[in-house]
Amino acid sequence: MTTTHNPTGYSTLQIALHWIIAALVVFQVIFGEDIVPAFRAFLRGTESTADELLAADIHVWVGIAIFALAVIRLAIRVARGAPAAPAGESAAQKWIAVATHIVLYGVILGMPVSGGIAWFLGVEAFGTIHEIGKPVIILFVALHTVGALYQHFVVKSDVLMRMLRPERRGAA
Ligand code: HEM
Ligand code: HEM
Repeated sequence: MTTTHNPTGYSTLQIALHWIIAALVVFQVIFGEDIVPAFRAFLRGTESTADELLAADIHVWVGIAIFALAVIRLAIRVARGAPAAPAGESAAQKWIAVATHIVLYGVILGMPVSGGIAWFLGVEAFGTIHEIGKPVIILFVALHTVGALYQHFVVKSDVLMRMLRPERRGAA
C-alpha cells in the first residue's frame, strides 16, 4: 500500500467500506429494537424464544461486522489521509464537516462496544447508553446527508462524487 497524505479522492476500498457500513448502520437503526425482548429476558433471568434469540444474534453479528469494518476503515484513513475540503469553504463549514465525521466514527466504533458490554457482560446501564445512540445516529446521519446533498446540488463541489467514484491513482 502506498502511503499518501494528500490524496485527491477516496480509494475503491474506502468507498466500498463507506457504503457497506452506511447500509449496515441503517439496518441496525431500523431493526435495532428486535434485540430488546431477548435482552430483557436475559436481564430478568427468563428464557427467550428461538425467534427472539435469532433476532438478537442478527443484531449482534451485524454490529460486530460494523465494528470490524470500521477498524479497517479507520486504519486506511490514518495511513492514506483524506482529500482536502472543497475550496472556498468557510472555517465553520469545515469544522461542522470534521465534527460530524468524528461523531460518525464514534458511532460505528462506540455503538458495538456499548452494545457488546450490555449484551456479553449483562450491564444494563450500557444498554441505556446504547439506546441513546439511536437518536444521535439519526440526527448526525441526517446532518451528514444534508451536508453531502448541499455540497452536490448547491455548492456544486465534488464532495459527493468523490465518495462514489474512486480516485484513479494509488491503491487501498
Ligand atoms: C453500529 C452498530 C450498532 C447499532 C447502530 C445498534 C443500534 C441499536 C438500536 C437502534 C437499538 C434499539 C434501541 C431502542 O430500543 O431504542 C439497539 C439495542 C440493543 N443493541 Fe445494538 N446496535 C449496534 C451494535 C450492537 C452490538 C455489536 C451489540 C452486542 C454485541 C448490540 C447490543 C444491543 C442490545 C443488548 C440492545 C438492547 C438495549 C436495551 O434494550 O437496553 N448492539 N441497538
Ligand atoms: C449511515 C451511515 C453513515 C456513516 C456512518 C457515514 C460515515 C462517514 C464518515 C466517518 C466519513 C468520513 C470519511 C473520512 O474522510 O474518513 C464520511 C464521508 C462521506 N459520506 Fe458518509 N456516512 C454515512 C452515510 C452517508 C450518506 C447517506 C451519504 C450521502 C447521501 C454520505 C456521504 C458521504 C460523503 C460524500 C463523504 C465524503 C466527504 C468528504 O470527502 O469530505 N454518507 N461518511
